[in-house]
Amino acid sequence: MARAVVDDLRAVAPEARPAAALAATSAARVGFDEVRDAAAGCRGCDLWERATQTVFGQGRVPARVMFVGEQPGDREDIAGEPFVGPAGQLLDRALDEAGIDRESVFITNVVKHFRWRPAPNGKRRLHEKPSKAQVGACLPWVESELALVKPEALVLLGATAANALLGSEVKVMRDRGRPIESVLAPLVVVTIHPSAVLRSRDSAEREASFAGLVADLGTVPAHLAA
Ligand code: URA
Repeated sequence: MARAVVDDLRAVAPEARPAAALAATSAARVGFDEVRDAAAGCRGCDLWERATQTVFGQGRVPARVMFVGEQPGDREDIAGEPFVGPAGQLLDRALDEAGIDRESVFITNVVKHFRWRPAPNGKRRLHEKPSKAQVGACLPWVESELALVKPEALVLLGATAANALLGSEVKVMRDRGRPIESVLAPLVVVTIHPSAVLRSRDSAEREASFAGLVADLGTVPAHLAA
């Protein structure tokens, strides 16, 4: 049965909000603030129970370039903002070197709540990859963001974002840094996640990995200018 399109997302049950938000956004019945506010109370999967808050996308709406990562980390969960921790700081440097102004873009994640497990000493919260079901439950939020941001270029950071939005046939290490045909945006590019640079075994690997990320990101302004 077709879902009725609603104007007031706050009236929708928290577990039904992702799909309702996408329907309302696609029909141009709600704006960014309403969608973000509805996401704050989302119960579309179980991740809200252990997270501090929903971390929705942030930046220009609309924007020429939109970035999508995996899920908020520990720092993002506390701040309520995407990419503000170590991976975000590295992304900032890479954007700067690639000639992309962070203030002019929109940045978000496929999954809006932090999935974590306690470290063995119980003192830290360790990142845990979101399950397929959690990614699927959250997907309408990023699809709503896409419908609102209307980017000319969409950059998917890492396999979780790439596979969630383009399908499992996309392989980041094979397909990175070149345009991928998609209905999501005129230009779609996948690259490694900034955390992959942070996980490098030594400084030589880190430098090479960072240079690769910058090179992939650099294709975006080059294509937009063409
Ligand atoms: N990693 C992500 O994928 N997103 C963030 O916001 C932070 C770390």
